[in-house]
Amino acid sequence: MLPLTQYKTLLFDGRLPKTYRYVSKYLNKDRLSKNVRQKFLDYYINDNSHNFVRSSPVVPFCDPTVAFVNAGMNQFKGILLGQQIPIHKKVANSQKCVRVGGKHNDLNIVGTDGYHHTFFEMLGSWSFGAYYKKKACELAWKLLTDIFKINKNMLYVTYFKGNPRLHLEPDLECKEIWKSLGIPEDRILPFGMDDNFWEMGAIGPCGPCTEIHVDMRGPTNRAKFVNKGLHDLQEIWNIVFIEYKRNENGVIEKLPLAHIDTGMGFERLCAILQGKTSNYDTDLFAPIFNVIPKICKDIPSYNSVFGEKDWNNLHTNYRILADHTRMLTVCLSDGMIPEANQKLRRIMRKAFYISDSVFKQEYGLVKELSNFVVEILGGAYPELERNISYVHQILDYEENLYRYLRSSSTSEWKIILESEPNLNELDILEMPGLLGAYKNIRGCNLQEITPEYGYKLYDTFGLDEDSIIKLAIGLQLPIDVDRFKIALETSKQKTNQQNPDSRTNNLLEKLEKLQATPTDDKFKYRYGKIDQNYIFHGIEAKILFIIKDGVLTNDISPNQDCTLIFDRTTLYCESGGQLSDSGYAIYKDGVFEINELENINGIILHKGKFKGTQNLSVGEFLKLNVDEDKRLKHMRNHTATHLLNSVLKKVKGATCQKSSKVSEKCLSFDVGVFGDKISAVDIKNVEKIIGDVIREGVPVKTSEVDSLELLTHDNITMVPGEVYPEAGIRLVEIDGSNITSREPCCGTHVLNTSDIIDFCVTGCKSLGRSTASIQAVTGYRAKIVRENGVQIVDDINTLKKNINNNSDKPELFNNKLAHLKSLLNVHPMDEDAIPFIIKLYGLEELENLNKRVKSATKDALKEIVEMEMKNALELNLMKSKSDKHFIVHYLRSSTMLESIPLQKATKICSNTPVLVISYTDSTVKARCCVPETFQSQVFNAQTWLSTVSMVFKSVAQPPKGQDPRNVCNMKPKHVNIREWDTLLKEGINVATSFAEAKL
Ligand code: SER
Repeated sequence: MLPLTQYKTLLFDGRLPKTYRYVSKYLNKDRLSKNVRQKFLDYYINDNSHNFVRSSPVVPFCDPTVAFVNAGMNQFKGILLGQQIPIHKKVANSQKCVRVGGKHNDLNIVGTDGYHHTFFEMLGSWSFGAYYKKKACELAWKLLTDIFKINKNMLYVTYFKGNPRLHLEPDLECKEIWKSLGIPEDRILPFGMDDNFWEMGAIGPCGPCTEIHVDMRGPTNRAKFVNKGLHDLQEIWNIVFIEYKRNENGVIEKLPLAHIDTGMGFERLCAILQGKTSNYDTDLFAPIFNVIPKICKDIPSYNSVFGEKDWNNLHTNYRILADHTRMLTVCLSDGMIPEANQKLRRIMRKAFYISDSVFKQEYGLVKELSNFVVEILGGAYPELERNISYVHQILDYEENLYRYLRSSSTSEWKIILESEPNLNELDILEMPGLLGAYKNIRGCNLQEITPEYGYKLYDTFGLDEDSIIKLAIGLQLPIDVDRFKIALETSKQKTNQQNPDSRTNNLLEKLEKLQATPTDDKFKYRYGKIDQNYIFHGIEAKILFIIKDGVLTNDISPNQDCTLIFDRTTLYCESGGQLSDSGYAIYKDGVFEINELENINGIILHKGKFKGTQNLSVGEFLKLNVDEDKRLKHMRNHTATHLLNSVLKKVKGATCQKSSKVSEKCLSFDVGVFGDKISAVDIKNVEKIIGDVIREGVPVKTSEVDSLELLTHDNITMVPGEVYPEAGIRLVEIDGSNITSREPCCGTHVLNTSDIIDFCVTGCKSLGRSTASIQAVTGYRAKIVRENGVQIVDDINTLKKNINNNSDKPELFNNKLAHLKSLLNVHPMDEDAIPFIIKLYGLEELENLNKRVKSATKDALKEIVEMEMKNALELNLMKSKSDKHFIVHYLRSSTMLESIPLQKATKICSNTPVLVISYTDSTVKARCCVPETFQSQVFNAQTWLSTVSMVFKSVAQPPKGQDPRNVCNMKPKHVNIREWDTLLKEGINVATSFAEAKL
């Protein structure tokens, strides 16, 4: 027993107190974190017949209500809400969790204490109707006290004391259970909503809970300090009785079935068992802390000090860096990308900032430390090791981007901070959108941040919830934080839903009144193959509604445009990037041609023209068929898109789909690339690998899974930011010998890769820093594209040959070149598209040819100039009657040249005063040289040329650094062709008379 006085130093005094030394007395051998995790799992799975369901990724693929998986129960949400049937009724696992936003947000506290983390593991157990409160409490109590041998007298339990306002009773049943397990009443404590009512987020499953707390100080009763934020008296296990769900309107509603959801903080359990009061002192962090001073010379080793004792925040920064590196490694290896998740990017930039400013490592520290995360956690989560090179690639890319932003965008923000010192808390590097947001707020002279404007800050400027609140506070603008948070949540979810226009809305209302139900469209997937030919089955469909000009009607006369709603359809309506089918419905001797489809809340509108002789009425049955040719083309392009997505990952490492479009003609795929841009060699590789899969003839398997089954698969390719349904997810799998693709997708696909026939990339261009847009074609169209390519290569070769034989005149060559260039620059989706590789090759060839021809022409023309000057010189000498030798010459050949080197012309007459005028491309130039022996005050290069410059309204200047008496150039001047003859004559006259008079 400790003397009473020692309990006075309960509060945080900079260094954490030593833990009670009996905590793990029996566990010396077993207390390594990996053994603790294993023991937990063995206990539930082997000893108590639970089933292991592995940790889901931290990306909430099927849940738009949370940004990260924040508890073990997330993947079971559908079961808890009664929407999914559990595969196993008793489950246990260790789950990777991230808490950096929303209801459970620990981001800002991380590092300042020993137990908050952005990433942590939760040891969880669940009963979906198998057992309830009593058994759940018994199991937990036994594990802690019998297996992990934690002294019972160090434990406290809490229960929910009820909430009259929400009509929730105190959970006395729970209290009785704990009593029956032998826990003294003074250690069973009631708490309210904040502590003992667990909610997953603003909406979702919730319920009263009971918590087990551990006092690290020892067995003396400190019940009054439970839930008071002591660092050595902490909650360790939360056992939730999920009985309710919270709706969007805030109302709490009873669920049909109650379930058990328990979660124990793994890092905290390890700390307790390893006799540490800070989680950071366990073997989950030690290897990271140990290596930092080895990499960063002159940095003192990590010390477990806090608050004032950590006077320069070094050790706090150690903790933040280690915490953030764990979080980043886990998130990135689970396929999250910074572009789709602002929070992730912010945390990443903070880690880079600390590496640089505290640990003096400009590059690569986080990346290096991520290897240690894999060492520590890789055994429990193999995906960490599997995806580490991908993680490294993104870290590299983002760190470079961060440096770039840092040097370029901070100055403007600094200036703003001078007048707005309250914004100092906000880091422009973590959140570059701040600049625009600030300008917008000030520009609009806002007096308040309304929930709607708050959403704009999120949506347009990419700010997250925290920064928006901080910004409002910093600018002293009122913000209703609760209303804002709810508005943000609901808006985020709304953007994921369709937004019908008002006309559609009216129609929708009417249809709703008439109790229209979603069209049964499963028939779109009913197709097969007989003898290599695809068979699409037509179906009998009944007309439920006819719409003419936006109005419901009972029948329609022939040859009119209208919209039909059938009870069922075999046509695919645009979704998942694949465009809608066309089709036709046969009625007696008539046909309804369908050329457009629209999906409104699951009701599929078939738009088109009815051609026939008799009226068409509601209630009639039609034979509905898909346009098979178009559908097959969609299928080829869609399957090829999946292959392209996988192959790009193989060829470029870290990539992610940004968007995709599948049409009849081609596929278009926008992809984010972290690293070097996609090169011609990459495209060649991609085509080669896809070509191989096509030749291999790999079956394309489609199955229907729910979110739980989806998580049991490895290496699923998801679209970052996309939310998938909880049930009825179609999983499309291609298992080739060299490439595997496994993607949830609602589209229609070929049944075997050989049916793609051929694949050829027709376009690839950059869209901004890290995105590329690729277009490709498949099927017979790819063959045509290749033929177009062969043809154009032939044409280029012919052109080359003609140049070598000198058989083409320059004009002809230029025309042919321009024509070929326009063929090469064809749009990648055009009818005449050519292979992208040939486009690159062709453009380069043409460029080379052009250069060759140009330089050959230049040489030839140079000769012409020289000849002309020599002739002029001789002529002049012959003609000259006096001893006044000079030459004034208009260079006739200059009109044929693109540019003219006048020095070449004057050089030829180096012993004679010479003045040459040229006229190229509507521009007059002149140059004049006077050898020294001919110079005088009145006659020299400058005075002489000035006479001509005056005629052309220009000036005479010497070339840089030369004597104006020796040489001068006239500044080039544009002269209209109509005036040219007159001006030239005048120029020649003044120059000649001047020389005759003054020389
Ligand atoms: N869902 C509860 C929690 O996160 C128990 O797992 O604490």
